[in-house]
Amino acid sequence: MSRVQALFSFVTENHPRSLKGLEESRAVAPELFDEVAEKFLGWAAKVHGETGYLPRCVDAFAIFSHDVLMSQARYEADGHYENDSFAKCEEAVYGRREVMDDYLWGVFLTNFMWAHHMDITRFYKDRFISKLPSAPKVVELAPGHGGWGVWMLSERPDATLHGYDVSPSSIVIASSVAEAAGVSGRVQYTRRNALDLESMPAGEADAVICSFLIEHLEEPWRLVAVISRLLKPGGRAFLTGALTAAQVDHIYEFRKESELVLLCEQHDLRVLETISVAPQRLLPKARFLPRSMGLLLQRRKSDMW
Ligand SMILES: C[S@@+](CC[C@H](N)C(=O)[O-])C[C@H]1O[C@@H](n2cnc3c(N)ncnc32)[C@H](O)[C@@H]1O
Repeated sequence: MSRVQALFSFVTENHPRSLKGLEESRAVAPELFDEVAEKFLGWAAKVHGETGYLPRCVDAFAIFSHDVLMSQARYEADGHYENDSFAKCEEAVYGRREVMDDYLWGVFLTNFMWAHHMDITRFYKDRFISKLPSAPKVVELAPGHGGWGVWMLSERPDATLHGYDVSPSSIVIASSVAEAAGVSGRVQYTRRNALDLESMPAGEADAVICSFLIEHLEEPWRLVAVISRLLKPGGRAFLTGALTAAQVDHIYEFRKESELVLLCEQHDLRVLETISVAPQRLLPKARFLPRSMGLLLQRRKSDMW
């Protein structure tokens, strides 16, 4: 049985309410779904063992998805995100292994099990990975589970990666995923606040991956300044962010796509392409449309370029 078939059987048996979403997700791009699911689940099987990986990851996915829905319902009622401080999120989520391990294995599966995120996944593969220059030095900010960067390394044997995440769980999990994918010799993960990279030498990265970090910050413009500083002139970045989409650790409430575009343009980043996607099904009477946005960016070579 393929891993995709095993996933469908496990979900049918243990999480029947997640089946419709899984079917919607595969329908977005069946070939890409199978490719990504086989890869990601294969790495998870190496980390957790053949008998344990589906319960470990799919249960975590179901809990994570449920928590996101509950956060969105509170946001609908209150009109604002529930948390306003990075320090609180670090204490309650990022620093707590018992919370963060489930969270990260759950997010790991959203890359192909949330139908709208399949569009972001396709954007990443077609518009970012496939356009990297030769022997790229890539920086990943907030790798979390590590899936984005490890996938890039598995596609590009000439690439190297340095990832920075504030959570100790991320360093452990991303390292284990890299090991499972056989790319650990080309990646290094360091526990560090991405905003502290403001002081790094400028212009050393060919590319930056920064997925679903920007909405977790009090001052998102500082992150955009970091991305711009790290990139060589002409270097590219894959940036994603959430808009009017609540989660327990989402702090900065982006409401319009143009807010992200403007932040990038204000920091010497050309916005080459964008994609904005939303779930196919919403809460009843929703006034907010929870969106995920992907941006392909390029560091300007000069003010006018
Ligand atoms: C939603 S997860 C994103 C994981 C992965 N990049 C993805 O897109 O699936 C958010 C990640 O941001 C990390 N994080 C939050 N604030 C951070 C900061 N200031 N610096 C570095 N990492 C941070 C968390 O530890 C967590 O791993």
